Amino acid sequence: MKIYSRKELNDYFLSLTYDDISLIPTEISRVKSRNDVNIKSAFLGIELGVPVVSSPMDTVTGITMAKELSASGCIGIVNRFDSSLNELFSDGKVVEGIQAVSVSLTADDELLEKLAANKLIICIDTANANNAHVLKKCEEIKKKYKVKVIVGNIAHGGTLKQLVDAGADAVRIGIGGGSVCTTSVQTGIGIGQVSSVLDSYFAREEQKLKIELIADGGIKSPGDVAKALSAGADVVMLGRMLAGTKETPGEVIKYSDQLWKKYRGSASFGVKMKGEFIEGEETMVPYKGTVKSVVNAISDGLKSSMSYLNCESLKDLKVKNSFAVLSTSSYLERLPRK
Ligand code: IMP
Repeated sequence: MKIYSRKELNDYFLSLTYDDISLIPTEISRVKSRNDVNIKSAFLGIELGVPVVSSPMDTVTGITMAKELSASGCIGIVNRFDSSLNELFSDGKVVEGIQAVSVSLTADDELLEKLAANKLIICIDTANANNAHVLKKCEEIKKKYKVKVIVGNIAHGGTLKQLVDAGADAVRIGIGGGSVCTTSVQTGIGIGQVSSVLDSYFAREEQKLKIELIADGGIKSPGDVAKALSAGADVVMLGRMLAGTKETPGEVIKYSDQLWKKYRGSASFGVKMKGEFIEGEETMVPYKGTVKSVVNAISDGLKSSMSYLNCESLKDLKVKNSFAVLSTSSYLERLPRK
């Protein structure tokens, strides 16, 4: 079996996603227990206990979720679809514990000024960052205000320099990989998430660009989080993994003797409610209890992965360079059987 370096994986002849690869421990680990592993990092100047950012979707991040994630050492990006943005300010001051907020391409100066005055990260929430209007908006915001701006999404690093030139501080990587996303089906656009992250990572390294990378979409497990970070992402953005928790907006529904919550794409009919083009689906996910328990499971899984790989910190993980490409049967063998 060939052991691929990160660079070789990026040059692989097919586009790859999380289930196509595996991380291979190739040395004796000095790590005694996963509790000795440090997964602290910084993202856009904010200290993170766990490198997780929530997706700005209306069934994932409202104010309660953003506050709880911040208390758990993560970042919640408040969605722009429900009433959350209106509830963000009381007496002109932002609700405590909120770091980030998503806005549409048409966000006006009044809103942007308030966000900037409160030093919130602004996420321009669009499907395609490779768009002149998105870059113009990013440039305008960066010229007017002293704020950090996230743009998205891209599937490839080919335009990374143009995003940096427009002032973007971070970019969401992934088109077509989201679990309620029908973009690839509807448009034929998008490649595997691991290849998207790798390509963006090498574009940044080779051109010495200053931009932080968010692996966005398709992450199903703590193991996928470890793979995304190993491929070069600085943080992961999660939708489905956080959906269904107590803190997400929306009701808990009892159906077929089980508890559920709604999870839907930002471009699904339920969000748009108009005759617009739909690129997302709506579904129910099992109720999961508190988001803190989900974050703890991610933290434990990531630490355990790093202890196998002899990594005491996320910096160590970035220099580990041993990946396998899995055959379909070896992928299936990895799954637990009943
Ligand atoms: P998940 O973690 O796999 O569920 O993916 C979440 C990501 O899917 C989000 O952060 C968005 O990038 C993407 N996404 C959300 N809604 C839609 C949609 O309606 N269409 C396409 N992609 C979407």
